[in-house]
Formats: sequence, structure tokens, C-alpha cells
Amino acid sequence: MDMNGKVVLVTGGGSGMGRLACQLMSRRGARVLTFDVNEPGLAETAAGDAGIVTRRLDVTDFAAVDAAVRDAEASLGPVHRVYNAAAIMPLGKLLEQDNATVHRMMAINYGGLVNIAQAALPAMVRRGAGDFISFSSMAGIIPVLMTGGYNASKFAVSAFTEVLWHENRASGVRFACVCPPPVATPLLAQGYATVMPKTIESMPPIEPREVLEAIESALAKGEFWVFPGKGTRTGYLMRRFFPNLIWKDVHKKEGF
Ligand SMILES: NC(=O)c1ccc[n+]([C@@H]2O[C@H](COP(=O)([O-])OP(=O)(O)OC[C@H]3O[C@@H](n4cnc5c(N)ncnc54)[C@H](O)[C@@H]3O)[C@@H](O)[C@H]2O)c1
Repeated sequence: MDMNGKVVLVTGGGSGMGRLACQLMSRRGARVLTFDVNEPGLAETAAGDAGIVTRRLDVTDFAAVDAAVRDAEASLGPVHRVYNAAAIMPLGKLLEQDNATVHRMMAINYGGLVNIAQAALPAMVRRGAGDFISFSSMAGIIPVLMTGGYNASKFAVSAFTEVLWHENRASGVRFACVCPPPVATPLLAQGYATVMPKTIESMPPIEPREVLEAIESALAKGEFWVFPGKGTRTGYLMRRFFPNLIWKDVHKKEGF
């Protein structure tokens, strides 16, 4: 798609897939604005690329997100595309995870999406054009042991985005909810720093580029659900029709 001169807003652009989205969009001629709390990461994303504007911003702060989106619309122009990629992934058994961590994960992964949607989407819907991309995960489709807090936040992302799409399906805005398997980004280190389930460890991570390409191809085909990587669509169908088979395998792998 021709992104020349279009304004693209990316959350979580200081690392991983958000960073790649910024760089790909800038290379295609878009003017990119990205929000992240990771300042060194933001600086690295924008290094040598005048097309990328960065802003230190916590996506859980609705007033700040709303004001920053208004600023962007005033200085750069109307937002045409949003990638909602900011997230954290500390893992652990639900009764052992720190209470504040579980709540914080929901506030960032799900609350950040709510904030960016309410700040940026109404104008996109009024203009009747643009792309709204949510990063859910296979973790937003298939729950497994020791990822419950993350699963809950990603199930919320999937549900919120699906309803958002249906409520605005005649608006002219395209919606995509992307559900990748493990991807080779720094996010995985948060799992390893806490507890990485064998179920996830046993899946070789795919490359961020594959996810970004799958999003582009889904948008072009008018598809909402994006399942990058081999076997993810099958995983979705397995969860839908044979959830107990998945649980049996997960219990066997984790040994409890
Ligand atoms: N890497 C994977 O295995 C994987 C798989 C499926 C889905 N996802 C999802 O893809 C998206 C991108 O993940 P990634 O792998 O690129 O992760 P990443 O850790 O590389 O990048 C996430 C970015 O979000 C930022 N962030 C965290 N809290 C924030 C806050 N409060 N405000 C603003 N920014 C904040 C971080 O600083 C970081 O730069 C996430 O939504 C993630 O859940 C990742």
C-alpha cells in the first residue's frame, strides 16, 4: 500500500515489532510518530531516520495519550494508520504472581489499546479511512499454564478489537487483530526472566518481519484475524473445537 505522506502512529515503537513497523512505514514514505516508555529504545528506532518522531509516553495515561494524538494531528496531519504494539509479558502461576504486576499487565496491554482507540479512532472513523492494527497474540486465543495474566490481557485485546471492528465495519476504516506465535523480540526475555513455560519454549520463534508482512497481506485481502507463522491457524481451530486436547498436551509438557 502507498503510505507516502500518510501519518502512522505506533505504540511500543522502542523495540521489537513496533520498531520494525516504524522503520518499514518510514521507508514507505509515511510520517511516523511513536509512543514508548523506553527512551534509549526510541532513540535507536529513530536514529538516522528523519521520518520517525518519538515521544516518551506511557500508554496507560489516557489524558497524555489523548493530548499527544491531538498534537500529532495538528503538527503532522490526520492519523491514517495505528499499530497498537506496546505490551509487557511477565509470566508466572496466577496465585504466585505479584498482584500489582498482573494489574499493570492488563493496564498496559489492554488499557493502552482502549486509550489509543478512544484517542485516535473517532477522527479516523469520521474521515472514513485508515487502518487500525491491534497486536493480540496466540496467547489471546489459547490459554496455557503460567501465562494466565498475559492470556487475560490478550483475550481482552482480541475481544475489544473484534467488537470495535464490528461496531465500525461500515466506516471505511480497516481493522486487523494479529495473533502471532512466539516472535524473536526482546519481549520473550521477560518470559525467561520470570518463568517460561515449556509449551512456549518448544515453539521456535518466527521473525518480526513475517508478522509485519502478514498484517499487510491481511489488510489487502480485507481479513480481520491475522495468524502469522505455520500452524497458528490450526492452533486457533484446535482451541475452538478440541480445547481439552490442547490442555492435555500442556499439562504433559509442564509436568503438572
Ligand atoms: N514477541 C512475541 O513473542 C509476541 C508474540 C505474540 C504477540 N506479541 C505482541 O506483539 C506486540 C509487540 O511485542 P514485541 O515482541 O515487539 O515486544 P517488545 O518488548 O520488543 O516491545 C514492546 C514495547 O512496548 C513498550 N511498552 C511497555 N510498556 C509501555 C507503556 N506503559 N507505554 C508505552 N510503551 C510501553 C516497551 O517499552 C517496548 O519497547 C505486543 O503487543 C506483544 O504482546 C509478541
